[in-house]
Amino acid sequence: MQNMHDNLTKSSFFFGAATSAHQVEGNNIHSDWWKYEKDFTKGISSGRACASYELFKEDRKLLQEMECNSYRFSIEWSRIEPREGEFVQSELDRYISQIDDLLEHNITPLLTLHHFSNPAWFEDQGGWTVKDAYKKYLRFLEFILPSLAGKVKYFVTFNEPNIYIYSKYIVGSWFPGQRRPMQLIRCLRNFIPAHRKAYKMIKDLDPESQIGIASQFTVFHPAGTHFDLLNWVMRKTMSLSFNFLTYNLFWRKHLDYIGINFYTRTRVAISFSDAVRLNFNPEFYEDQKMHFLQFPEDLKLALRQVKKYGLPVIVTENGMLTNDDRERQDYLKEIFKYMQESILDGVKLIGYFHWSLMDNFEWSFAFKPKFGLYSVNHETFAREAKPSAQIYRDLIRHYRKKFEVYEIK
Ligand code: BGC
Repeated sequence: MQNMHDNLTKSSFFFGAATSAHQVEGNNIHSDWWKYEKDFTKGISSGRACASYELFKEDRKLLQEMECNSYRFSIEWSRIEPREGEFVQSELDRYISQIDDLLEHNITPLLTLHHFSNPAWFEDQGGWTVKDAYKKYLRFLEFILPSLAGKVKYFVTFNEPNIYIYSKYIVGSWFPGQRRPMQLIRCLRNFIPAHRKAYKMIKDLDPESQIGIASQFTVFHPAGTHFDLLNWVMRKTMSLSFNFLTYNLFWRKHLDYIGINFYTRTRVAISFSDAVRLNFNPEFYEDQKMHFLQFPEDLKLALRQVKKYGLPVIVTENGMLTNDDRERQDYLKEIFKYMQESILDGVKLIGYFHWSLMDNFEWSFAFKPKFGLYSVNHETFAREAKPSAQIYRDLIRHYRKKFEVYEIK
């Protein structure tokens, strides 16, 4: 009988942490978020964020402190192409030096090519909803990819296309701030060729590269206790469109691994009076109670659901929104327990990236939600370890051998 791990070679598991450029770098003045964010954050600007643009070596030291062997971060398109067609080599060089610095310290980069933010000029033309907009993104990739080949082996082309579309066009909580559900089709018409062509471009430069997307995954549960068929059908439909559309219909043949961003559970209630009620909603952020919806055991259910693809899986993001770091510590321990159980169940889990390395600019919620293993002083930009950073290090030590598993051949 063929062992399901036969096409994998033994190697070390990726223990990492994650950030994205706009959330940590600061002064990202040519991005669409910079231009529009204040209208969605009650006037708060990302400003210098965590000043990681200058302090990336400090960030790398934090990873070393925790004994992480990998780092997921993103490259900011608007820094490299601040005006359409004008490419700034020195900005690309800065990212290359960041990558070199990681490699010198035996930290594998997992590089995200698009994490929610675009150049302002691109958004002003209509962004991802304009016909053939993806060609502009590919032109940018043509500029950067040759310099990355051989240095970066693991790529995420898009971070959470499902959340991008949901926030921008379905609930309208990001600019332009209108519910325009039909735009999601136009957006997908660009995301799909963008991902596929990016996949080919990267493979042509380096066939060894491993390419995925990081898609948010939430397990849908019934809000009530009794079974009813309508609710079941609704949950299946929602799971199919939210969780699996990205993997199934569009990207399946262009994925080397499944990237899962795992945070919360979604409870579905459907009734004639109440229509559809979801627990994935902003007030949980507002009052900092999102943690009530964090169920680490759901990670195991999520991993079981993606096992059917037979691909390696990376938890590209997972973390907890809380001001009480003790909760984060307990949560982390639980998450590791469920990852181990999943590996024993035959899931080809090859990496885990904690969101986030440090507290950062949390999009339309500005700086209020705290997800970090480190806190950041916004006057001095000093980073301070929360106790959970040490717990994470201890967990890495404890599970390093147990998780020493497989990588794609
Ligand atoms: C995003 C991150 C975000 C995190 C916490 C994910 O949806 O990829 O950028 O900060 O969730 O909300």
